[in-house]
Amino acid sequence: MGKIIAIANQKGGVGKTTTAMNLAAGLAFVGKKVLLVDFDPQGNATHGIGANKVGFTKSVYDVLMTDTTVKQATVTLQMPPMDVLPSTIDLSGADVAMSQYENGREQLLKNKLSAVKNDYDYIIIDCPPALGLLNTNALTASDSVMIPVQCEYFALEGLTQLLSTIRLVQKLWNPQLSIEGVLLTMFDARTKLSVEVQQEVRKYFKEKVYKCFIPRNVKLSEAPSREQTIFEYDTRSEGSKAYAQLVREVITQNERRK
Ligand SMILES: Nc1ncnc2c1ncn2[C@@H]1O[C@H](COP(=O)(O)OP(=O)(O)OP(=O)(O)O)[C@@H](O)[C@H]1O
Ligand SMILES: [Mg+2]
Repeated sequence: MGKIIAIANQKGGVGKTTTAMNLAAGLAFVGKKVLLVDFDPQGNATHGIGANKVGFTKSVYDVLMTDTTVKQATVTLQMPPMDVLPSTIDLSGADVAMSQYENGREQLLKNKLSAVKNDYDYIIIDCPPALGLLNTNALTASDSVMIPVQCEYFALEGLTQLLSTIRLVQKLWNPQLSIEGVLLTMFDARTKLSVEVQQEVRKYFKEKVYKCFIPRNVKLSEAPSREQTIFEYDTRSEGSKAYAQLVREVITQNERRK
């Protein structure tokens, strides 16, 4: 049975999409069967991973709002060898549309993904930077949540809100939801601030924080414009090494749990 991991933090620009794309690709490159779900109306993961090049007519919006199945909307990539459920700006209308539903609006994504859960080893969901029904759907559908934390001022600000949303989802819709791990992103070893944020985050989340951290690395920001993951764009970069290490930590942790 596949494991569903939501990459979430309602704060914008902390590295959710960069992590979702590179984690998904890294898992695919070591032979895991992977589905990347772009659950953000911005569609950054869809563009960055090159799903547009392949072309698609249905998106995750159709899956949520109509009887379109995940399989029908899924795009298969050659490189990285994995599947993507793409997103478009249409998804921004789903929040309002879903809020009109009387029942089951938090479970829409979960119900749809359950049909393909056994087809994959990992399903990675890239969440939007907001705490609305889209995020609630992602968290309700997931086994665990990975939280990227940018090594910046106010890094921990807002995490209290995310943690209370996680607790609410656990209480009402998904008691099994756990924290997969906390990932430090855009780390700059030259700055005192990065080191301080790291210490603070480790003090708060303890062993939940990954040993590896993602450095600030320009290659990571260039890769999506070429529609490539870091493993294709520049394998020797620090960004590539860091995400490869994250992939190893995630696999080790999950194989131990099994
Ligand atoms: N480790 C890094 N080093 C350098 N640039 C990075 C790194 N991680 C992400 N970036 C860049 O920072 C910007 C924000 O990253 P990303 O899109 O992954 O964040 P996000 O949390 O998904 O944002 P949003 O909340 O808008 O969805 C992007 O331009 C990305 O290329
Ligand atoms: Mg994003």
